[in-house]
Amino acid sequence: MTSVAVIIVAAGSGTRLGAAQPKAFVSLGDATVLEHAVARAVAATSAPRLVIVVPAGRVDSTTALLSARLPGAADRVTVVPGGAERADSVLAGLAAVDDSVDVVLVHDAARALTPSSLFDEVARAVADRHAGVLPVVPIADTVKRVGADRVVTETVDRSVLAAAQTPQGFPRVDLVEAYRMAAASGALASCTDDAAVFAAADRTVSTIDGSPLAFKITTPADLERAEAILEGGSGRGAAITAPAGELRTGIGVDAHAFKEGTPLWLGGILWPDAEAGLAGHSDGDAAAHAIVDALLTAAGLGDIGSRFGTADPQYAGASGARFIAEAVALVEDAGWRVVNASVEIITNAPKLGPRRHEMQDALSAALGAPVSVAATTSDGLGMTGEGRGIAAVASALLVRAS
Ligand code: CTP
Ligand code: MG
Repeated sequence: MTSVAVIIVAAGSGTRLGAAQPKAFVSLGDATVLEHAVARAVAATSAPRLVIVVPAGRVDSTTALLSARLPGAADRVTVVPGGAERADSVLAGLAAVDDSVDVVLVHDAARALTPSSLFDEVARAVADRHAGVLPVVPIADTVKRVGADRVVTETVDRSVLAAAQTPQGFPRVDLVEAYRMAAASGALASCTDDAAVFAAADRTVSTIDGSPLAFKITTPADLERAEAILEGGSGRGAAITAPAGELRTGIGVDAHAFKEGTPLWLGGILWPDAEAGLAGHSDGDAAAHAIVDALLTAAGLGDIGSRFGTADPQYAGASGARFIAEAVALVEDAGWRVVNASVEIITNAPKLGPRRHEMQDALSAALGAPVSVAATTSDGLGMTGEGRGIAAVASALLVRAS
């Protein structure tokens, strides 16, 4: 079996967040940013060893904090001091990884809400592909090249661009070697992530779909967004409380047939143990697609088929989260803000209850507003009752942007 270690770099000062403590030690919900990141990494089913890299002077207090908060994982966690630059901290972490480890994942503590499943997906892809693996998300905004005097010189084709997230995974020996080469050649200073260090050593980096929950907490607005996701996910109230202005609701329905041999994506998350996935040109996530239609109908913008084209090659295999993010961009362009959405999923299997909160978190992150998820069966009747597929019904509420 592949042995996996996760290095969580948490030694930065968080200048852009501007809090009194270093960013990883700022509170988020009922814990710190670092505790959220560690709890999610520890829960990955690949049962990784963890090396946590913290500011010098916080090693002992972090060790004590983590053994109090995550007692079951204490024997899997080592805490070491970091360095002045992120790359120095990664090097300090790599030095503490045991030689028996096959795959190393390097993760930013600042991506505190990254779901456990992404750690497993990255680790699995490294083992399958024998390459560096980078989780990426599409860029929703139009991208410009800006020259002297703030003049736009080019609109860059965003279909070939992607935003890089963490955890980034690598065969351990290859990453150690890539860091050694980059340090020796002086290339390290210009590398802003581990995939860049790996690529500088002429090694292949391949991508997988990232997660909207793996966004980086950089500014106070990012911290607010993380707080809102945690609150929305646990049903403790919405990010927008008393919306003032014109309101619109929308409804959306979607259904996909089961298809064996396909991974199941549902509610914005992967279900690795499901017997079959859903057929479709995209990833077939009926819950996400129903939310997209709810958003588009609320704004009077048509539906997913007319907006995104069910056969458009750029949406082959596209994630539900991507459709939601693009629908939000359309809705916002039309002058609306999303208040919330709710979705009910109709299926016999898999049993959705145990991972309902995970779906809520993933969908809320994609939407940028709270999403609540409910589930039901159809009493043995019809496509869902006979176990031939999954259906979903969603509603969304919009408020006119002021
Ligand atoms: N990091 C680190 N050691 C450093 C610098 C950064 O371990 N010397 C870590 C941070 O703690 C964070 C991750 O690298 O988890 C990504 O860096 P970033 O988001 O830039 O965090 P900071 O450097 O802390 O923030 P800022 O750039 O705003 O100061
Ligand atoms: Mg930084």
